[in-house]
Amino acid sequence: MATATVGTVPLRHPEGLATLFMVELWERFSYYGMRALLVLFMVAPVGAGGLGFGTVEAALIYGNYTMAVYLLCIPGGYTADHLFGARRAVLFGGMVIACGHFTMAMPTPVGFYVGLVLIALGTGLFKPSISAMVGGLYAPDDARRDSGFSIFYVGVNMGALAAPFVTGFLAQSAIFKSWLTDWGLNPAHSWHWGFAAAGIGMALSVAMFWARLRVFGKVGVAPDRPTMTLRGAAAALLGSALLLLALVSSDRPGFEWLRYLIVGLPVAAIAVFVRRGDLEARRVAAVFVLFIASMIFWAAFEQAGLSIALFADRLTDNHLYGFDIPSAWYQSLNPLFVILLAPLFAVLWTRLGARQPSTPMKFVLGMVLLSASFVLMVPAAQLTLEGKVSPLWLVGLFFLQTAGELCLSPVGLSAMTKLAPPRLVGLMLGIWFLGAAFGNKLAGLLGTGFNSEDPAALATFFLSLAGLVGIAMLALAVLMPWLKRLMGGVW
Ligand code: PHE
Repeated sequence: MATATVGTVPLRHPEGLATLFMVELWERFSYYGMRALLVLFMVAPVGAGGLGFGTVEAALIYGNYTMAVYLLCIPGGYTADHLFGARRAVLFGGMVIACGHFTMAMPTPVGFYVGLVLIALGTGLFKPSISAMVGGLYAPDDARRDSGFSIFYVGVNMGALAAPFVTGFLAQSAIFKSWLTDWGLNPAHSWHWGFAAAGIGMALSVAMFWARLRVFGKVGVAPDRPTMTLRGAAAALLGSALLLLALVSSDRPGFEWLRYLIVGLPVAAIAVFVRRGDLEARRVAAVFVLFIASMIFWAAFEQAGLSIALFADRLTDNHLYGFDIPSAWYQSLNPLFVILLAPLFAVLWTRLGARQPSTPMKFVLGMVLLSASFVLMVPAAQLTLEGKVSPLWLVGLFFLQTAGELCLSPVGLSAMTKLAPPRLVGLMLGIWFLGAAFGNKLAGLLGTGFNSEDPAALATFFLSLAGLVGIAMLALAVLMPWLKRLMGGVW
């Protein structure tokens, strides 16, 4: 079992952490294993077993699906807190996710769409609840708490690291396709074997959770009687359903104006809370400033599963040492770098102690690194004029992006818990997920501009991503003194 040290005293973590680690590992295995194939499957020609979509259509579906996954964490988290408890939400959500992957394993377009909906609904229940259960293992002032979350984040990334190797091998490799042919099966259905592998991962996750339920004691049990209120339920369930509907509809001609909600809602929230003026309200306003920054960060960062996945597939020389690497394997670089770099960042922040950069400054740093990763892709895009480029470009991209992620993502999460009024911590975490949701939707919209046929247009595409993040970074830097005043001493 994992141990942490405070001073020189080794501390054991609660027994439940090992279980939650494995359960989340396999859930993320399924999520990222499927996501590694998602866009490639949509754009693959029908003859090659894909859906034959164009880039624009695939990008919009990617944006809507990944938005839904994180947006549904709000109603999912709310119903778990007030109705059935985190434990049942993890169990039931996990089963729904597994059904979704297995539905996608069926080679029909209907299976594809139904699968996406099931995975989004299930993840909305699963993801906030498993995170809440990690928190529930510790008393609020327990010194092991942060280290517990860091260990849990390693689980997330171990699942994400392993998955593309498995699903990419099944879906994309010539070796597996020839096995299918040998077995008398259709090699064009290889994608669905990849989706099935994701489903098996999720089923394992559910089975482990089920088998180890007794280690959780009272953690995550349902409230004695439902504490749902009409207002709360209306806001969490109806509000998110309407928001989701509005943003999905914004892809339809004539409804594009609904996209302004993505920026309009957080800006309106900032205005309302700044006007209220008391310290609590000003801190909530600060949450929404960080919300916008993180949203733009994710909009560029989540290109990983979209335009970067297409770049890896179409424009990178994947022929190494006589072996064709499945392009999905590049998706493992981000989790790999998280596992390698996270301990370094942890040591760095602890060593710097009181001299470490403030939260907004870390956000600025994260955005500098992310912007730089896309600047790096500009020459890579230009080089595609002469043919496929070296995989090292993507290694560099993911290295810079991951360093950026580690400056922003864990820092932002912890800032939410510190800036939130104590009774609203859960809600503020929901808002943090909403930032990721809006960011993913934007990622889909921006990804429609990807073009693998015209190197000059591609270079401009990457440069504009770098520019977008760069401008947001500059704006945040300029607003920093004001933001720090809003945060009222919690930096
Ligand atoms: N790798 C993280 C995870 O899968 C990405 C993430 C960050 C998701 C923030 C949601 C919010 O957990």
